Amino acid sequence: MIEVVGEVLVDGEAVPAEDACVSVLDIGFQRGFGCFEAMRAYGGTIFRLEAHLDRLAHSASALHLPLPDRTSLIRWCTTVANRAGDAVVRLFVSGGVDPGHPGTGSTIVVYAEHPPPSPRVLRIGSRPAPWHPDGARSELTGAKILSYGFNLAATLAARRDGFDDALLIGRDGDVLEGPTFSVAWFHGDTLRTPSLELGILASITRSAVLDLAAAAGLAVEEGRYTLDEVLAASEVFAMSTVKEVLPVGAVDAHRFDPGTRTARLATAFRKLVAAEIGR
Ligand SMILES: Cc1ncc(COP(=O)(O)O)c(C=O)c1O
Repeated sequence: MIEVVGEVLVDGEAVPAEDACVSVLDIGFQRGFGCFEAMRAYGGTIFRLEAHLDRLAHSASALHLPLPDRTSLIRWCTTVANRAGDAVVRLFVSGGVDPGHPGTGSTIVVYAEHPPPSPRVLRIGSRPAPWHPDGARSELTGAKILSYGFNLAATLAARRDGFDDALLIGRDGDVLEGPTFSVAWFHGDTLRTPSLELGILASITRSAVLDLAAAAGLAVEEGRYTLDEVLAASEVFAMSTVKEVLPVGAVDAHRFDPGTRTARLATAFRKLVAAEIGR
């Protein structure tokens, strides 16, 4: 169950979660047409709010969905974050009630959830993702759209196989990302991660971690890599707003010990968050 902290803002109006609703005629509900963001609030302040709103603006523009002005979006997100403290703040923009004119009567929902308990390591199972863009471009490239059905199905299938989550593999055998996280690993002394050119989400955590790694003097490479390359790595980790930097303990049958370099990046990420939000 989703446990909402406090009230839900629907178009900026505070509503108890059980009364908050979006029309059954909305193409967000009917067709997964819309976009969203998941942000992390620490002590009531959202990490990289502007970057999240930039990505939301890109997603909305790709869908030709008008957004409320940025000041309102910031106010709604900060109101929810301030009340919730440490939380995951979610913002949804529905497509509206006219499939011919997206944005007509669209609903904006903002609410907070308690951050889920974080496992010590993540165990992931590789799964073919023939539906992933995997390098092919479209008008929705880079957009974080509501249609996450394939991603959730991959997570649930991986869980049925005994893993915590999935590692998506593209049609050409490229390692892509998790259904809700990015991945990276150490190949010798080099940090490697799938390239954004593959159409993976431009993860805000990934971007911060790659900057931290480069600042720490690590060689960073973004490219196309196969699963064998990941299995041969010394350390593998996941990155996302919700997971932060989380060591991967297994990929398929292959085990990884949580490594010191991942731990150092996780610490550096936490320090960066603390510095940026002023704690
Ligand atoms: C497919 C996918 N990749 C990566 C990420 C991580 O992105 P971020 O670091 O911005 O949370 C997410 C987050 O939801 C995602 O859905």
